[in-house]
Amino acid sequence: MNTSTFENYESEVRSYCRHFPKVFTNAKGAVITDEDGVDYIDFFCGAGAVNYGHNNEYIKQKMVEYLSTDGIIHALDMYTVPKREFIETLEHKIIEPRGFNYKIQFCGPTGTNAVEAAIKLARKNKGRRNVFAFMGCFHGMTLGALSLTSEMYARGGAGASLNDVTHIPAPYMFEGLDVIQYMQTLIDDDHSGVEKPAAVIMETLQAEGGIRPFSDEFLRQVRDFCDKNDILMIVDDIQVGCCRCGSFFSFERAGIEPDMVVMSKSIGGLGMPLAILLLKGELDLWKPGEHNGTFRGNQLSFIAGKASFDWLLENNVEEETRRKGELVKSFIEREILPIDSRLELRGMGLIWGIDFGKINPELSEVVIEKCFENKLICECAGRDGSVLKIMPPLVIEDTLLMKGLNILADAAKEALK
Ligand SMILES: Cc1ncc(COP(=O)(O)O)c(C=O)c1O
Repeated sequence: MNTSTFENYESEVRSYCRHFPKVFTNAKGAVITDEDGVDYIDFFCGAGAVNYGHNNEYIKQKMVEYLSTDGIIHALDMYTVPKREFIETLEHKIIEPRGFNYKIQFCGPTGTNAVEAAIKLARKNKGRRNVFAFMGCFHGMTLGALSLTSEMYARGGAGASLNDVTHIPAPYMFEGLDVIQYMQTLIDDDHSGVEKPAAVIMETLQAEGGIRPFSDEFLRQVRDFCDKNDILMIVDDIQVGCCRCGSFFSFERAGIEPDMVVMSKSIGGLGMPLAILLLKGELDLWKPGEHNGTFRGNQLSFIAGKASFDWLLENNVEEETRRKGELVKSFIEREILPIDSRLELRGMGLIWGIDFGKINPELSEVVIEKCFENKLICECAGRDGSVLKIMPPLVIEDTLLMKGLNILADAAKEALK
């Protein structure tokens, strides 16, 4: 298989292709096919961008229909029928039935741009520069978002100072540390050296940070902390939203309503680029065009996104995700954890991580290579990349899910023997 074009001409910045050095042609459901016609089971899911399956037939047909009518594709942020239908469906079928109340801001097409919008708007609202983010978080790679992202390797690429963020220890990091009290002390103590933030931004389950779910109780405590101190709560649901954790929004399990929510990846339905910021109406202090961009809303992404909302409701995707999540959990508890008592399993819905860190962080890399040899695609995450991440499309058939898990179990057994 010829990969020399990429090696000769594509920048060294390329990354995922180094783990999976094949040239891919087709994809359907939870299977990706390479140029030689070899099928791979996908436990990576475009890092959460194709939750509803590669080339989901219903969504794809809606896009094909739209293309065949010469429907407008690029319209800046002008009013269009696909945008109207996307907004109406998201508001009336997803947001309102959950008792939430958000306006929608369309951002540049990647998640990081929605994060930029969220922190700009939070700072504008509160007239404060600082933002609290949690150690272990990932919020994107453009400079504002990167100032939040805690991974030192990614931050090192900035070549500029990354300011106006205070990183707070995540609740799993120091046993006995009351993280809420710690944040309260930072803002109350006139010798803390830390400025009161405009917002606290968080993932409800740190994904790139190593599949680290925050408890329902902790999410509620952050909500209370923000309310009590006139600070905005921003949830980054870019990777773990769109049903990944078993409900459309990942924070539903805690019964909270953040002030802002950033979404991307699967919000574009079929892996189409789209990023949105959901915001409480009273926070909408933007002046026209103050967070601008050419690609704020691709019409095909609107078509695919709207179709995905209809499709996920029709097909009980939230419930199915929870059911399949239990299959994954019980399989790993039965077949993989007994191999070595130092292995740890964390996750919910259809995002799970097996942490090899207490044995040898490099083992996760060995296992993903063995998986790939056996036609299973999965990635690693977390400190030293020690966590093997399991994140199949939510539509994966049970048999394929089990097949992938068996490949994984065999690879783990071989690596740990
Ligand atoms: C939680 C979270 N926030 C933000 C981003 C950045 O999104 P994008 O890569 O589309 O800029 C990601 C990407 O993986 C993410 O997982």
